[in-house]
Formats: sequence, structure tokens, C-alpha cells
Amino acid sequence: MTHFNICFTKCFWSSLSVLLTFSLTLWSYLSDYRPLHLMTHPYIKGESIALKVTPECRLSPSRRLLVVDNLNRSRSISRVLRAARSLCEYNVPTESRFDCARDRALSRAECENRGCCYVPLPTDLFGGPPWCFYPPSYPGYKMGSFVPTSKGRTAKLTRSKPSYLPRDIPTLQLEVAEETAGRLHLTLKDPSSPRYEVPLPPPPPEPSSGIQNPLYALEFHSEPFGFVVYRKSNGRVLLNTTVAPLLFADQYLQMSTSLPSRLISGLGEHYTPLTLDLNWTSVTLWNRDMAPHSNANLYGSHPFYLVQESDGLAHGVFLLNSNAMEVVLQPMPALTWVSVGGILDFYIFLGPDPQSVVRQYQEVIGYPMMPPYWALGFHLCRWGYRSTNETRSIARRMREAKFPLDVQWNDLDYADKRRVFTFDPVRFGDLPEMVQEFHQEGMRYILILDPGISSTSQPESYWPYDEGLRRGVFIRNSTGQTLIGKVWPGPTAFPDFTNPETVRWWEECIRDFHARVPVDGLWIDMNEPASFIHGSVDGCPDTDLEKPPYVPNMIGGQLNFGTLCMSGQQNLSTHYNLHNLYGLTEAMATYSALLKVRRSRPFVLSRSSFPGLGRFSGHWTGDVRSDWEQLRYSVPAILLFGMFGVPLVGADVCGFGGNTNEELCVRWMQLGAFYPFMRNHNDRPNAPQEPFVFGEEAQAAMRSALLLRYSLLPLLYTLFHRAHTSADTVARPLFFEFPTDINSQTIDCQFLWGSSLLISPVLEQGAVELSAYLPPGTWYRLHDGQPYRSKGQYFPLSAPLNTINVHVRGGHIIPQQEPALTTTAARSNPFHLTVALSAEGWARGELYWDDGDSLDTYERGDYSHILFMAGESQLVSDPLRMNGALDGLILGQVRVFGVPSSPKAVKANGEIVTDFTYSSDTMSLTVLSLSLPMTEEFTLQWML
Ligand SMILES: *[C@@H]1O[C@H](CO)[C@@H](O)[C@H](O)[C@H]1NC(C)=O
Ligand SMILES: *[C@@H]1O[C@H](CO)[C@@H](O)[C@H](O)[C@H]1NC(C)=O
Ligand SMILES: *[C@@H]1O[C@H](CO)[C@@H](O)[C@H](O)[C@H]1NC(C)=O
Ligand SMILES: *[C@@H]1O[C@H](CO)[C@@H](O)[C@H](O)[C@H]1NC(C)=O
Ligand SMILES: *[C@@H]1O[C@H](CO)[C@@H](O)[C@H](O)[C@H]1NC(C)=O
Repeated sequence: MTHFNICFTKCFWSSLSVLLTFSLTLWSYLSDYRPLHLMTHPYIKGESIALKVTPECRLSPSRRLLVVDNLNRSRSISRVLRAARSLCEYNVPTESRFDCARDRALSRAECENRGCCYVPLPTDLFGGPPWCFYPPSYPGYKMGSFVPTSKGRTAKLTRSKPSYLPRDIPTLQLEVAEETAGRLHLTLKDPSSPRYEVPLPPPPPEPSSGIQNPLYALEFHSEPFGFVVYRKSNGRVLLNTTVAPLLFADQYLQMSTSLPSRLISGLGEHYTPLTLDLNWTSVTLWNRDMAPHSNANLYGSHPFYLVQESDGLAHGVFLLNSNAMEVVLQPMPALTWVSVGGILDFYIFLGPDPQSVVRQYQEVIGYPMMPPYWALGFHLCRWGYRSTNETRSIARRMREAKFPLDVQWNDLDYADKRRVFTFDPVRFGDLPEMVQEFHQEGMRYILILDPGISSTSQPESYWPYDEGLRRGVFIRNSTGQTLIGKVWPGPTAFPDFTNPETVRWWEECIRDFHARVPVDGLWIDMNEPASFIHGSVDGCPDTDLEKPPYVPNMIGGQLNFGTLCMSGQQNLSTHYNLHNLYGLTEAMATYSALLKVRRSRPFVLSRSSFPGLGRFSGHWTGDVRSDWEQLRYSVPAILLFGMFGVPLVGADVCGFGGNTNEELCVRWMQLGAFYPFMRNHNDRPNAPQEPFVFGEEAQAAMRSALLLRYSLLPLLYTLFHRAHTSADTVARPLFFEFPTDINSQTIDCQFLWGSSLLISPVLEQGAVELSAYLPPGTWYRLHDGQPYRSKGQYFPLSAPLNTINVHVRGGHIIPQQEPALTTTAARSNPFHLTVALSAEGWARGELYWDDGDSLDTYERGDYSHILFMAGESQLVSDPLRMNGALDGLILGQVRVFGVPSSPKAVKANGEIVTDFTYSSDTMSLTVLSLSLPMTEEFTLQWML
């Protein structure tokens, strides 16, 4: 006897104990109707079925009557089965339907053959709720009992009948490790044959102490297998994977979970607002050379999300998997991970606040590198600076027009026949001299480096290719020869950075080039990797790797479009598995080469990314268009990369593609002054967009934005130190600082630097004012101290073309420095402090300082660190550590915001200071002409 359950409303059935038993032969309906409930059981001809009706349901009254009617034993079985199918519809609310046909489109018969419900809906063919979806308790894996292991516990999962997927894996190994109080780790893999696992470089070891008071509780459902993660403090269900079946086949892995709120962020790289749309959308993670636009997979993959729960708490989930992946979002709210390979390796972070979630995530993927100080200055680049002379003249015109510029760049123009590690003997013949000149001016120089190595070495030899070929450093095709694609120089081979020999060869190429052209950093572009032909010059073999049974929804529709064959052979695995890691592995090799060659802090900027990139590289958001929409969405883009552990990030200021215009470029320079990484970069055919090409008024606005950035670099550098040592974010969404403030939850047109500066850029054409949200507290306009006391309100702010609105948060002290045209010069200028008193009259801040260029200064203790504290009408410094880097540097000026009345006197270290001004309009005090050594403790008093 086979049982099958149908649930009904309690009210209707509570008085009845109903057990209806039918005797029937199954073949009679199998040919006709294939409703799910019956299909969920092994069907055996001639068996009898018990319909057990249980009291919990959501049937509409009319449908209920129909069912009752249909349950009349004398009716034909087909009527009963039709009713059972309608139960699919009524048992599973639309928003909670999990797609049973994600792998391919199914007809009704095919859907029902899977034991799934088929309910057509009047929605578009694409998007909207699925027509074919799982019934409740769809059969899946059954979990055995747990056995303890050294890391936690393990259990076997088995399924009696394979799923509907090709090459289903019937037995899985579940490993559960409660790694820290805030971090859970669950892994599902095939115990009988090892599968590809992401070779994520292990993060530095953490002190492991026994776990006390974990923030989570974990519950397993044994059949069908699933688990529930609760937040212990309030019992909230954070994940519930029993909402849909776990599927695990060779090329299709799927796991769904409910979400406790609709506020989900992450899952990059994509072009969206900060919080994702749950209205039946999906995000594909597959690295692709693709200009940012909506509904497209872009350059990087970050299978990590953060959910804001309803009360300011947050949790996060990271699926460590590098295969092509699609993440489906639905309004339940719920999410489904689908990957085409590897294993399911989940990390769950309990926070409990957003910043802690991101820190816990970075404990797994590694904390970001400390950038050199100069990398925080302004960078200028263009594809189309055709010679050293032209490049020189750009830098000269910047200097003459008094625009700060730290780093001059060249795109591929420099290369001879577009081959990397060479330079054009005519147009760039004196490249080494040019770089030396920049260095003498206190500037730095960076150029582009693509991974594709020209494979046409005839007639003359080309060392990187010839030597690379000899040493077997390139990705091979499925028959073992070098795989040849096509990039800028024409036919190209692609280094396999998972091969240690490649890393050595790459270092030699960089060492050799650096000996001629002493570059200060490298810009690794086209490293998805991009290829102008699909797969290879020989095409790709017709296999399941190139065309898996399921391909996530992606640009081009095929995995090998715009890149290499999936069957490409790399040292660690196939390109199918390693594709999303290409940029990361190149960044690692480039970082390590620069470190060895330059013996100072490396600067690498990578387009392609994967978790862990921030340890080695910064990122820019690729080929953004010069338009207002792209300006606006650059804000969530940089905020997301901060969450992904890549704090050194920015979009190409003024836009890369298409012509910019003066207003757009001014607004972009103003916003860009607050990107953690600021580079103006332009494409070849476009109108020029260097600051000096615009009218006087626009130039003045751009200059003042740049000088403002330069004046704030001590703060920015200190924030990068915090990112490097504590995984704090640099550019930060408002909800990180104000997690319980409902208004802050989705704001992504404004952002913070650390916890102290609020940036409210103009993102719309023609706007000269904006409505800016100030979270609860006291805020002061940075440039003059105008106070705003906010209960969490929008304020109308004036924003003429020469203004970007920046507010300091009461309670914070901002370390600043007089700007200069390079950081080299600025770093020896007098420091300034801006003290923004809280309503209670106190504030604090800090400065981290070192030589700005040596490796591991913090780790080696070779740095200076000062705390600043204000309260009771005085400001004191507390030099916690001094290494000499601040020797000879002085504090020249202090502004105090929120001083209630004009001071009768001001004293520095007990001595009367006469050079001060007080504005009663803004209640701000400015003390000038100070000369207090930064290395010594000081006290500044204002007597009220
Ligand atoms: C059950 O079926 C019989 C025979 O077809 C019919 O007379 C009767 O009305 C049905 N009962 C209900 C409750 O529908
Ligand atoms: C998890 O989801 C299943 C299926 O929707 C549901 O029956 C169960 O009650 C949920 N568990 C919890 C703890 O919410
Ligand atoms: C969801 O998408 C559908 C179809 O695109 C649209 O009609 C509907 O209004 C959307 N719902 C929400 C809440 O955005
Ligand atoms: C660069 O400028 C110098 C000085 O004007 C000139 O002698 C030289 O030929 C120029 N080089 C190129 C490649 O145009
Ligand atoms: C591999 O590359 C070689 C050399 O280009 C080519 O002859 C061969 O056909 C390629 N194999 C495949 C499977 O494409």
C-alpha cells in the first residue's frame, strides 16, 4: 500500500477523521494524468493507494467543494487525480513555487513526469513564477546519522532513485563544522569520487578558541534532506533549505533557501541597485568582458550575499564555488543557487550586524591588501595617448593647470604591435626616460598588461611566447596543444596561472620589462579572460563541458562565448572549472612578481575578480558609458565591492565609452573624488575628458574636488589601514553604520567614508540641489561646519556645479593635510584636524601613518598611530606609536564644529593662541597658524 498526503483546511476537516482508501490499478491513470503526489512514490502496478487527508491546508472554498466532490469514491479516479493536480496550485502559493524546470523548458507531460506540478500562469514566457514547480516534500536525499570528525561532524546522504538530471550523484557526504561563534561551514560533496574544489588561497590562520555561545542553532531534516539555520538570540529562521529539493548531479547542483527578509545585497558583479530585486529575477556569475548594463553577467563573480534582517541584524552566505552559476531570486522571499560543477561549500555568517558579516566573510577569503599611499591620489589614463610626447604633454598640462595628479597611465598604445612586455620603438622609444621623469616629479607610472601572449613570433622572436611555449606555461586545448584565441595582437596564447612554472615565467617577464621600464604598478585588463573569437581558433570540441545540459542565463548563451574553450586544460583542472578564477590567479601572480621585483607594496588593478581578489588587487568597474545612469549606478557598484573585500575600487571617472560632457564630467569628478580608487579614463574615439580641456568654471569645480580629496587622504589612508587589519569597509553603505534605521536600508545614492563622512553627490543632469538623507544625529557641512540636527530626515541641500555635499558626523575627528599636486608633496604638508562635536560635546578620531610604500609596515610594527579625543572644550592627541614617519610634520590648523559660543581664549599646550576665528552662524571655531609637532602629545583648549 502506498500512502499519499493531501492537506485540507483545519476548519473543514477538524471534525472528521478522514481516511479514504482507494483500490485501483495504477496503469489506468498513469497513461492519462501524471499528478505529482502519486508520482512522488514508486508506482507499482496493481497496488492500492491510501489517500490520507491531513488537516492543514489553504484551499479556496470553491476548490474545496470540488475536491470533496471528487473524493466521492464512486467517481472515476481521473476526477480524483485532476483534483490532486489542482492541489498543486492551491497548496503552493505562487511566490513560493520553486522551479522544477530550471535546467530546461518542459512540456506539461515532461513536468508531470518529474513528479512536479504544472500550472500555467498568465505571465510572460520569461520571468515570473514557474509553471512547473516542486510539490511539497518532493523526494530527495535521505540523511543518515552524524559521525563526529576532527572538524565537526559528517553524515551520508543517499537517494533511492536518481533525480531527473543526467549523471545524478546518488550518495553525498555532508560535513558540518561550527567554525566560530559567528561562522558555520557546511559542505556537500561526492564521497566516492573527488570533484573539483576551488583552490582558494588559504587566509592567514586565525586564533582558534573553543566555540562559546554560537549565534546560530542548526537543525537537520532527514528526508527529504534539508537544514534550517536559526538565529539563536531571537529564534529567527535565517535559512531553510527544505523549501525545495537538493539536487546534485555531475553538471547541475541546486540548493534553495528561504530568506528572512527582502533586503538582500551582494551576488556580484552586476549592474543593479544595492538591494536586489526579488521579483523572479536571477543573477548569473560568469566572468565576461561585458560593458556594465542590467541583466548581464559582468567581469567578476562573487557568490556572497548579505541579508538585512528586520531589526538591524544581518547575516551572510558565501557559496565557495567557481563554476558558472545562476542565483534565482523570488518574492517568497527565497533564493536558489544553481551551479554547473564543483561542490556545494557554504559558509554562513551570523554577524550579528552588517559590518561583522563582512568581516566574517573576509576571515574566509582574506583581508584586503594595504595600498601604497600614492595609489589613493588621482590617476589619469586614456586609450589613445599615442606617444610618450603626448603622454608627457598631458601630465604637463595637468601640472600647469594646477590639478593634482599622482599617476599617469598608458593603455595599449605603448606596446609594439600590441604585444605586452614590449614598447613601440618609435612612438614610445623613450618610454624609460619618460617614466624616470615622472618619478623625478614625484609621480608614478602604470601601464596596461593583458594576459594574452601573441603567438605569432615569426619572423622575429618574441621571448614571452617562445620561452612560455618552451616551459609549457600556456593553457592547452583538449588535444594537448597550446590553445590559441584572439585578442589585441591577433592570435594569442593564454598563460595558465594555476601552474607554478607560469608564475615564475610571468615574474621573469615582469622583471625583464621593469628593468627597462620601471613601472610602479600593473593594470591587468581583459582577464576574464576575453577573446575575440569563441573558444579558440580551432573552435571547441562538441562535449558536455562546452555545452553542459544546463547553461545559466548568460550573455551569448554559451560558456565559451567571448572566452576560451571550457575543455582548455590547466594545471589544476579544466577551464570549465577555473574560468572564474582566471583574473584572481593572474592578480596573484602579478602581485607576487611586483613584490619581488620592486620590493615595495604592489599595486595591481584587475578587471576580472573572484573572492579573495582584494588581497592582491584593486578593481575598476570596466567599460562604463559616459552617461548619467552609469554615474548613478557606480555608487552601488563600489559599495558592493567593499562588501566583497575589494575596497580599492572605482569607476572610470567621466565615463569610458562615448563622449562625456562638461556637466557630467564635473559631477563625475566630484563623485570620483570619493571613490576609494579615482581614475579618469577614456576610450580612443571619444572627445577628450582630462580636467584641463573644460571651461574655467568646470575646471575650478574639478580642481576643488581633487584638492578636497587630497586634503582627506590621511583619513582615507587610515580607513584602508582599518580595512587591511580589521576588514572594515572604506566606502560604506549607510545601513552599515545605521543598521536599525529603516530609511538607511536601501539608500545607494549616498554613502559614507568609514563611519564619519557622508557623501551626497549630484547624480542627475541639471540638478543644482538635492534632497539628501541625514541619518539620526548631528551632521556638519564639511566645508564650513554648518550643523544639521537630524532625526533621520531628508534635507534640501544646495548643490551648484562647484559643490559636492559632504557632511561630517558629530562625534568624529577627521585627519586632513594641506593638499598638493602630488601625494609625494602633500605628505610633508601640515596636517589639519576637523573636530565635529557630538551633541554632548565630544569627538574622537585617529591617524595611521607610515612611509606609504613599504610592505607589511603594520605587521612589522613600522608605523605611527595617533588617537585624537575632544571633550570638555579641549582636544588632545595620544600618540600610541611613533616610528619616525611623522618626524618633522606639524599640525597646522584645527577646526572645531559645534562650539556653542565664541571662545574667550584659545590655548595650545597652555600657550595663548591669537590666530583663531569663530563663526556664530555655523558655530565653528578655526584655529590657524599652529605648529604642533605631530609626534608629540598636544592639548588645544578653547575657553568658553
Ligand atoms: C457520490 O457519487 C454518487 C454516484 O455517482 C452520487 O450519487 C453522489 O451524489 C455523490 N456524492 C457526492 C457527495 O458528491
Ligand atoms: C522550512 O520549510 C518547510 C517547507 O516550506 C516548512 O514546512 C517548514 O516549516 C520550515 N521550517 C521552519 C523552521 O520554518
Ligand atoms: C514583478 O514583475 C511583474 C512582471 O514584470 C510586474 O508586473 C510586477 O508589477 C512586479 N512586481 C513588483 C512588486 O515589482
Ligand atoms: C618628442 O618631442 C621631442 C622634442 O620636441 C622631439 O625631438 C621628438 O622627436 C618627439 N618624439 C616623437 C616620437 O614624436
Ligand atoms: C588544438 O590545437 C592544435 C593546434 O592549433 C589544433 O591543430 C587542434 O585541432 C586543436 N585541438 C582541438 C580539439 O581544437
